[in-house]
Amino acid sequence: MFVNIKISLRDLRLCWIKVLMNIQFPDSFLWGAAISSYQCEGGNFNSDWCSWEKKQGLEEALSACDHYRLFNNDFELAKKINLNSIRFSIEWSRICPDQTTFLDEEIEHYLKVIDSLIKNNLKPVVTLHHFTNPLWFADKGGWSDSKNIDYFIIYLRKMVGILKNKVDIWLVFNEPLVYIYNGYIRGIWPPGEKSIKLAVKALNNIIKAYIIGYQEIKSIYKDTQVIPKISLTKHVRVFSPCDEEKAVLNSFSAFVRDKCFNFWLLDYLNKKKCLDFIGLNFYCKEYTKFKFLFGSECKSGLHKERQNNLGWYVSPKAFYDVLIKLKKYKLPIIVMENGTSESDENYYGNYLREHLNSLLRAINDGVNVLGYFWWSLLDNFEWEQGRKGKFGLIEVDYNTMKRKIRLFAYTYGKICSQNRLIIK
Ligand code: BGC
Repeated sequence: MFVNIKISLRDLRLCWIKVLMNIQFPDSFLWGAAISSYQCEGGNFNSDWCSWEKKQGLEEALSACDHYRLFNNDFELAKKINLNSIRFSIEWSRICPDQTTFLDEEIEHYLKVIDSLIKNNLKPVVTLHHFTNPLWFADKGGWSDSKNIDYFIIYLRKMVGILKNKVDIWLVFNEPLVYIYNGYIRGIWPPGEKSIKLAVKALNNIIKAYIIGYQEIKSIYKDTQVIPKISLTKHVRVFSPCDEEKAVLNSFSAFVRDKCFNFWLLDYLNKKKCLDFIGLNFYCKEYTKFKFLFGSECKSGLHKERQNNLGWYVSPKAFYDVLIKLKKYKLPIIVMENGTSESDENYYGNYLREHLNSLLRAINDGVNVLGYFWWSLLDNFEWEQGRKGKFGLIEVDYNTMKRKIRLFAYTYGKICSQNRLIIK
């Protein structure tokens, strides 16, 4: 029996256009990489993290990636791999080494950083607070004292006022809940507290500071033609119960973690109408086992996903699921951090492709995504883990500070320049 199949040239063309559309990212998509001041610049000795490292006997950031000195070179490399944007943070403790001083030369430094970005066709996206505080602010009680909110707002007002003609995407805070959890509940980051009471106070104050900061930034731009986009970054993880015994209790802890860490902050800020977009940080899936109050992470060979060199479970499917869940906010999304740290070079490329594939699937399923930033541009200083994290598109030799573009970064570069997923 013969089936008469007639495919015209027009059908073929339409079919090809359809395939292309499905691998194409939206126009003007932001393709970037993210960094933070303390993790890359080096020399941030007035920060609470610096004194914490000493106090705890942790590996010290010291000159980190020496990015403070080498920023021009780093941005030229970013341009070489076709990125069109960089997310970086301003170090508050550099600008204000004490309560009453704003150092002009440090403000000047960040102006140079932004000019260098613009010269290299890289759109600046600025974070005002990425986990670190000036030491004097921490000594005054830091975020747990509501009287201190004003200090942050004064710094915000000053920096936004100076940079408003060069920057239009602002992240007031990076991952407030991660900061609070590690600094006030687990006590593994400064200020090293283990107190629910202080955690609630500090979180409350950060949320207040965010809302005030959001409104301040809006009013600073009032006399300009520009409408700024303001948000914070929210770390979202998918929590699954550990595949060990005590299934019911593990499911309970996974549920608690999901409720406490994932969406309530976005729900709250969205209701207050102070999110212009969602800044999503996504890395992995987490298995949770029962432990009073928030459960704890469970690492076991029983789980099907691969673990990266920091033990994180790689799950592009979870990334897709999170993006679909965020659709309910009806806000644009910018993926402000996504990345991995690996011992085997080949895994970076796989991680990148699989996560971009999930991103594209979500976009094709109606999620409004404006950009994607790989974490990180450089092998950054990874907080309490020191130099163990190797997240960079660019590898850093810490002895010589020499940079080397990783192979997968060229693949990323091709995707960025063609604005579509390249199928191997
Ligand atoms: C933080 C970065 C950190 C990265 C990898 C993010 O949650 O914003 O500072 O380096 O995760 O752990």
